[in-house]
Amino acid sequence: MKNDQFLQSGSLSESRRQFLEKAGLATIIGTFGISFFTSCVSSEEPDDTTTPPTTTAPNGITISGNTVQVNLTIQNKLAASGGWLLITSAKTLVANLNGAYVALTSVCTHSQCSDSWSFTNNQFTCTCHNSIFDTAGKVVQGPAGQPLDVYSTSVSGSTLTINK
Ligand code: FES
Repeated sequence: MKNDQFLQSGSLSESRRQFLEKAGLATIIGTFGISFFTSCVSSEEPDDTTTPPTTTAPNGITISGNTVQVNLTIQNKLAASGGWLLITSAKTLVANLNGAYVALTSVCTHSQCSDSWSFTNNQFTCTCHNSIFDTAGKVVQGPAGQPLDVYSTSVSGSTLTINK
């Protein structure tokens, strides 16, 4: 009889322990929420680094890794010679020079300003401190002392492709 009581009370203790474990888990989930657990799980998942991110801007510019494509029909600022664009999301300058396209980095070699440029008389001016570069990236006027990187370009139909 004592053994039966002991076994029974032992079995009740086991049930109580299981109940308390489940209740404790429920309390933790209630306290931190499901998002806490899902965010922990998702942060442990491996990143997909094999596919470059692709950004499609609504203005006809697509960026995929080191390739930038510009739809020249939509981006008609590049249609005429002297037309130019600063593509901030790709940190790229593009200009039409008598029907040929040049592309350069928009990261100035002086102090790395990348979004303050003007283009006149076939020269890019970084308006942060007024360094001037020609369309080959060469420094025309400092304070910048190093040239801008130049990217290759090609046109197929109405698509300009820039390879950085
Ligand atoms: S960052 Fe371009 S001139 Fe200074």
